[in-house]
Amino acid sequence: MCGIVGYAGPQAKAPSSRPVDVALQGLARLEYRGYDSAGVAVIDDGSVRVTKRAGKLANLRAALEGDTETTGRVAIAHTRWATHGGPTDTNAHPHLGGREGEIAVVHNGIIENFAHLRAELEADGYLFASETDSEAAAHLVAREMETAGDLTEAMRRAAASLEGAFTLLAVHRDAPDTVVAARRNSPLVVGLGEGENFLGSDVAAFVDSTKEALEIGQDQVVTVTADDVRIIDFEGHEVTDAKRYTIEWDAAAAQKGGYPSFMAKEIHEQASAVADTLLGRLEDGALQLDEMDIDPSVLRSVDKIVVVACGTAANAGAVAKYAIEHWCRIPTEVELAHEFRYRDPVVTEKTLVVAISQSGETMDTLMAVRHAREQGAKVIAICNTRGSTIPRESDAALYLHVGPEIAVASTKAYLGQIAACYLLGLFLAQVRGNLYPDEIAALMGDLEQIPEQIQQVLDSSAQVEKLAQDMKDATSVLFLGRHVGYPTAMEGALKLKEIAYIHAEGFAAGELKHGPIALVEEGQPVFVIVPSPNGRHSLHSKVVSNIQEVRARGARTLVIAEEGDDAVLPYADEVIRVPATRTLFAALLTVIPLQIFSCELATAKGLDVDQPRNLAKSVTVE
Ligand code: F6R
Repeated sequence: MCGIVGYAGPQAKAPSSRPVDVALQGLARLEYRGYDSAGVAVIDDGSVRVTKRAGKLANLRAALEGDTETTGRVAIAHTRWATHGGPTDTNAHPHLGGREGEIAVVHNGIIENFAHLRAELEADGYLFASETDSEAAAHLVAREMETAGDLTEAMRRAAASLEGAFTLLAVHRDAPDTVVAARRNSPLVVGLGEGENFLGSDVAAFVDSTKEALEIGQDQVVTVTADDVRIIDFEGHEVTDAKRYTIEWDAAAAQKGGYPSFMAKEIHEQASAVADTLLGRLEDGALQLDEMDIDPSVLRSVDKIVVVACGTAANAGAVAKYAIEHWCRIPTEVELAHEFRYRDPVVTEKTLVVAISQSGETMDTLMAVRHAREQGAKVIAICNTRGSTIPRESDAALYLHVGPEIAVASTKAYLGQIAACYLLGLFLAQVRGNLYPDEIAALMGDLEQIPEQIQQVLDSSAQVEKLAQDMKDATSVLFLGRHVGYPTAMEGALKLKEIAYIHAEGFAAGELKHGPIALVEEGQPVFVIVPSPNGRHSLHSKVVSNIQEVRARGARTLVIAEEGDDAVLPYADEVIRVPATRTLFAALLTVIPLQIFSCELATAKGLDVDQPRNLAKSVTVE
């Protein structure tokens, strides 16, 4: 997600201690998060000065070059990962708010009620320059300031009326020594210096300057000057028990949040990643996919769906097939994007093509999108990267909002892709009338439980980590599953191949007896993904039989099963538990132990987990 920096210090004496330079240094330390634009605001000489540019930090530095005059005591800065509105100069943060641009605000997160707020503020005469949800927050704080006359109180009132997830930082021309921030469901930490204080979306923003930090709790507002830090909650009560701690990481470790690799960090971000994908999609009981600007009549006329994607994204597509066919009764094919174009596929104006791509730049997927559109099909992109080529060349886009993924091996984007596919399936079912509103609401209710369940799986990762360390010399691992457990098996095998360089195969469990069972010999490790015994009894019992089959031939069975499923116990050498959910939604849980297994095993082998050999994050050649 976006990077945020705030700084309050003494009136600058040396050029390098100017707030603008301190803020730029902070942004540089947050570059690892990935971003598509950057900006900074300072209060200088009674006015707010904002400089912001699309692209890399170098563009922002170039725009500021030659400006040696600006001093001041405070700055806020931001690296943006586009959500609402493409990655342009105008959409970059900070955003000016108020009738005279008297305030500047940076924002991380998604403001769910921004459309309503924007309409209200526009009616009040506030002018909007960008397409972002964040600009509404800037005007809102400015409007509250008109009546409150105090920036902390203005921020408190504004934050209390926002819905969604946010970290907000604001500076105002009438408070030249103060930065005020607020947070809900989005990170914010204060760095305590000597005669200067910092704010950051994570400690990497300031760890070079101070190791003393203060945790800001949920629904709190913090007011920071050079010498003082004060916290209140959204009700206005003073907070006196904020947790102070000493950061034990150096700058490199801080970027990885203390995890040994970006992949490990991204695996552990998955609860909030999925929550962010789902955030703000239900309005008045109906699913709203803002970006879905294809006419509903076109969606109603669709007679076939083709999902095109590569690698991990194709495994997410394979999960989508089960959901879409079940909920929408539309025949759905999943095709590797590089195969699609070359087999002369049957695509008509009634075909809906769903292109899944984390990067939005995968050439094979892009070529499939172009081919589909040439045949008259409508294309929906499911993508993580705003402004990338695939969504730009598609008819509509559904974004993951999981934040940048840095490790080459995809993890949090995979879960985001699956969650987005569920949203698409439910949206199509809503538009086409395949499901009643109460059925959609019940499914969404269960889906919204998933982030908490993901956290439970992550919290019990020690067992899988130990297993991975014990198995670091394995030379071959097999993965079996049925239904959505099948793509999960494929994904488990892909992860192990790509980062641990171990021969691994994922199979549909029913296919076993048609050939692959010949691979099983004494001691062969086999992961089996077991579906819930509730509701799909025959599916469950078939998989239990598959465990017996491989075990009878000497396999070491590593079984991923729902809590309370005791039927697997007699045949499992190791049982890894996941919380109970619907059979379809289990794809968001059962893959996590497999991700952890690969990551831990590769780490134990001393491999470069984040940059495996021969692989690139974005494959921009065919
Ligand atoms: C595997 C992995 C790749 C990508 C594939 C498609 O961990 O990351 O298999 O999923 O190259 O990339 P995107 O989603 O960017 O189109």
